[in-house]
Amino acid sequence: MLAAHRDGCVLPQRFDREGVQGYIAFSWLRRSSVARILVLYGSTESQTAKIAEFLATVLKQHGQTVSVVDSEFIPGSFTLNDYDVALIGASMHAGGFQRAVQNFVGQQQASLNQMPSAFFSVSLTAAYPTPEGRSQLDSHLERFFAETGWHPQQVVNFAGALAYSQYHGLKRWAMLRIAHDVHAPTDTSHDYEYTDWEAVTRFAEAMLAVPLAQG
Ligand SMILES: Cc1cc2nc3c(=O)[nH]c(=O)nc-3n(C[C@H](O)[C@H](O)[C@H](O)COP(=O)(O)O)c2cc1C
Repeated sequence: MLAAHRDGCVLPQRFDREGVQGYIAFSWLRRSSVARILVLYGSTESQTAKIAEFLATVLKQHGQTVSVVDSEFIPGSFTLNDYDVALIGASMHAGGFQRAVQNFVGQQQASLNQMPSAFFSVSLTAAYPTPEGRSQLDSHLERFFAETGWHPQQVVNFAGALAYSQYHGLKRWAMLRIAHDVHAPTDTSHDYEYTDWEAVTRFAEAMLAVPLAQG
């Protein structure tokens, strides 16, 4: 079962294993060299965008070259050939990840499978991991990878946020129901952030040890 803990950075064995199987011809060049790292994300209320920027900051502090790309605004000139490592993130909304991320990954899966890559999911489930929520997250991850054909080497689950100030109408009603079901706060006069930034830092630093593909 997928372990989606509040503090993130827990690898589901099966995805890790599949990733290793699909992992070809990497030299064991360790990160004394500078890697060109892509952090591409989908974000609806901005928590995943915040995590993507934080990852970039940590990686840059370690001397890496990092580009952060919003999946909704991918430049026409974009090519994965410009990168050594791809970190892709998306958040859960009513059971699915952002369509723009799914499209990108589906179109680029052949290239992604030839390079070190990782996926980070952002969800409320990772903050409040009920058995039902975990099994839903697990099956959404499975479907995402099955539909896109992508085999990232790492999959991590970060806790997101409850951004009541950004929910209106039906969305607010839906989130209140979800929050109620998992015993999360339902006081809509506050926003709540659950992301464990140390876990995000650990994930970024783990990427520094990823072997690079042979050129
Ligand atoms: C309408 C809506 C539906 C959501 N559905 C889920 C869900 O099915 N499972 C879950 O774990 N989190 C769910 N969430 C919580 C989001 O994943 C969480 O708020 C996350 O931080 C959003 O990241 P973002 O701001 O980058 O979009 C939902 C949030 C909203 C607003």
